[in-house]
Amino acid sequence: MEEQVIISASHLKKSFRIGWNKRSCVIKDISLDIYKGETLALVGESGCGKSTLARLLMRMLKADEGTILFENNEISGLSEKNFRPYRREMQMVFQDPASSLDPRMKVRDIIAEPLKAWHVYNSKKELDERVLELVDMVELRTDCLDRYPHQFSGGQRQRIGIARAIALNPKLLICDESVSALDVCVQAQILNLLKTLKKQMGLTCLFISHDLSVVSFIADRVCVMKDGTICESAPANELYKNPQHEYTKYLLSSIPQVIRK
Ligand SMILES: Nc1ncnc2c1ncn2[C@@H]1O[C@H](COP(=O)(O)OP(=O)(O)OP(=O)(O)O)[C@@H](O)[C@H]1O
Ligand SMILES: [Mg+2]
Repeated sequence: MEEQVIISASHLKKSFRIGWNKRSCVIKDISLDIYKGETLALVGESGCGKSTLARLLMRMLKADEGTILFENNEISGLSEKNFRPYRREMQMVFQDPASSLDPRMKVRDIIAEPLKAWHVYNSKKELDERVLELVDMVELRTDCLDRYPHQFSGGQRQRIGIARAIALNPKLLICDESVSALDVCVQAQILNLLKTLKKQMGLTCLFISHDLSVVSFIADRVCVMKDGTICESAPANELYKNPQHEYTKYLLSSIPQVIRK
């Protein structure tokens, strides 16, 4: 059976103005397919353009050139109004939940917000039940609902961010350095949660990280990015066993090894 592509980007380019007469090209001709049900990792050093690429795919930024197809429908040229149905299908989990969650809102309202914005419930009771279900899915206790983001640990805050991101049952979840700010144990817990949710909900995941060791735990396939281009793309086990590009080899060689005496 041929694998289905959920999102397909061709020849994306994006530059930003720097200063009054100069532009810097951040995304230089990137083409990328993400297959339904896979976890694709996007790896590369800081500043290589990973978040910019994610924002282009989600149409949070407009590409200078190139096209994006979502389930075979062109979304790059759509008006905001026509793009709206696609918006809920793609959600993002950010690196720093402390700044992506509104500090003045209680967890209950943070999670309910997308449900309210899209009117996907028929009664207050249904809304409350869905919020409870989401809290349970991200393995938080229900007594968290009336607390504020600052009253949680980094890992718990990331769970709140995930609950909010999956509230509308998206098809594609983009995790942009979602575990980078957490310690190693909590990273593993959140990665396990993402794996479970992915299975449970049939999600497709684009997992962005600068850390190849984190990615090995979750990715089916890896794209290595350097200076606004993708220099290597391969199934995860092949890439780790037999990296082809010099830059991939360099990234792999820079993973710290634990020395046990
Ligand atoms: N709105 C913008 N205006 C100008 N330059 C920008 C803008 N957004 C991103 N850039 C530049 O584009 C480059 C790539 O940034 P981007 O955030 O995509 O990198 P990244 O790979 O996600 O890095 P990190 O791993 O640190 O998150 C950087 O040099 C950044 O300064
Ligand atoms: Mg980034």
